[in-house]
Amino acid sequence: MRFQIIVMGCQMNEADAAWLEQSLVARGWESVAEADAQVIFVLTCSVRDKPEQKVYSLLGRLALGLPEEGFVAVGGCVAQQVGEELWQRFPCVRLVFGTDGTALVPDAVERLTRHPGSRLCLVDFAPAYPEREAAFPWRVPARVYVSIMQGCDNWCAYCIVPLTRGRQKSRSAAAVVEECRQLVARGAREITLLGQNVNSFGQDSSGDGTPFAELLRQVAAIPGLLRLRFTTSHPKDIAPEVVAAFAELPNLCSHLHLPVQSGANAVLSAMGRQYTRERYLEIVAALRKARPDIALTTDLIVGFPGETEADFAATLRLVEEVGFAGGFSFKYSNRPGTRAASLPFPVSEEVKSRRLAELQALLAQATCRDLEAQVGRQLEVLVEGPSKTQCGPQRWWMGRDGGNRIVHFPAAAPDLTGRLVRVQVQEATKHALRGEMMGEPW
Ligand code: 5AD
Ligand code: SF4
Repeated sequence: MRFQIIVMGCQMNEADAAWLEQSLVARGWESVAEADAQVIFVLTCSVRDKPEQKVYSLLGRLALGLPEEGFVAVGGCVAQQVGEELWQRFPCVRLVFGTDGTALVPDAVERLTRHPGSRLCLVDFAPAYPEREAAFPWRVPARVYVSIMQGCDNWCAYCIVPLTRGRQKSRSAAAVVEECRQLVARGAREITLLGQNVNSFGQDSSGDGTPFAELLRQVAAIPGLLRLRFTTSHPKDIAPEVVAAFAELPNLCSHLHLPVQSGANAVLSAMGRQYTRERYLEIVAALRKARPDIALTTDLIVGFPGETEADFAATLRLVEEVGFAGGFSFKYSNRPGTRAASLPFPVSEEVKSRRLAELQALLAQATCRDLEAQVGRQLEVLVEGPSKTQCGPQRWWMGRDGGNRIVHFPAAAPDLTGRLVRVQVQEATKHALRGEMMGEPW
């Protein structure tokens, strides 16, 4: 069978897609271009209204190009939320699988291909993290994701994730460490541990109680692992031991994505975030003490119901005060079933757009400032592959430093993908750095 996977949304979906691809290939399926595929998998996102609408237009388009025996399998957050209704709207869909159903998908699609005309819907939440069959190729990419948990128990007022990914369910520390070991043995050099709220890893009915800082120590100790990252962190749950890990573990990268969402205490409280701007600033100070060069990035929402001009101004001030290396900002989007969906005092679309533009301009400035501060430094870069922005006759490469900054540099080497190189930074562009390779890759 020939298949293609289309991924939308977050890194959890990327990680699910990588596993699904390996698992299907191990069963003899072939990954091909969309136009040649008999089965197209779509991993969807419903965190805001816009990505959800994108799913529907994609499904409409796919229906037109499928071969007669072909079908679409829809997974991820929209699938979890909408379930069997997807069949009614899109007859080309024969499999709907929710976030806990991914582990069952390879068996399910094999069954569907044996029974033309049949359909399956796998949207039940599992009581514990559904472990997946091991499906590692003999060689894996240098940068890999490892899911350590599923779901979220925080119930932030705006967020649909507890509804689409269910209650928090952690894997056992032993299962995570073993998977990381296997990946390192097959060539992984950088691992990103993934979860909706990694700081509360282990502390749920399916977890084994291992604190997240301890998991970090165990994974960081795997011989041959050069870089360790994790995402996403909730500020209220970041333990002092996790902050200390930035001082203790040299292979833990100097980057933390720490979504703050707003700089106004009234909004943070209405969002149910359970920290104040003062507490957030304390965490930032502790992180900088543990790792002075740490690059901090964040997520921000503008136009949460009831957000005043003064609240928004407090968000702008917080962005300045923290000195983020970058951030993602979003207009508040009403999500069905969330607490915020029934809050009074919605902010108009016009005001949301203006605030978003202002915040994005400030975040762009922050990124520029951070990038310019790197000029003249030598950075350790893990090469991801050839750079798309070639300039001049030389071959250019692209990679990231520990702070997750994109770095481009020329080198005549045949293939540097997956290698670590030292780059002397010569220039900052709007979104990236350019420099010169120093010495030999390792
Ligand atoms: N509206 C706008 N942004 C949202 N996010 C999550 N839910 C919503 C929503 N309803 C943003 C948050 C989160 C990121 C992944 O998406 O900033 O950190
Ligand atoms: Fe989107 Fe959130 Fe689901 Fe990821 S977990 S796909 S960001 S809704």
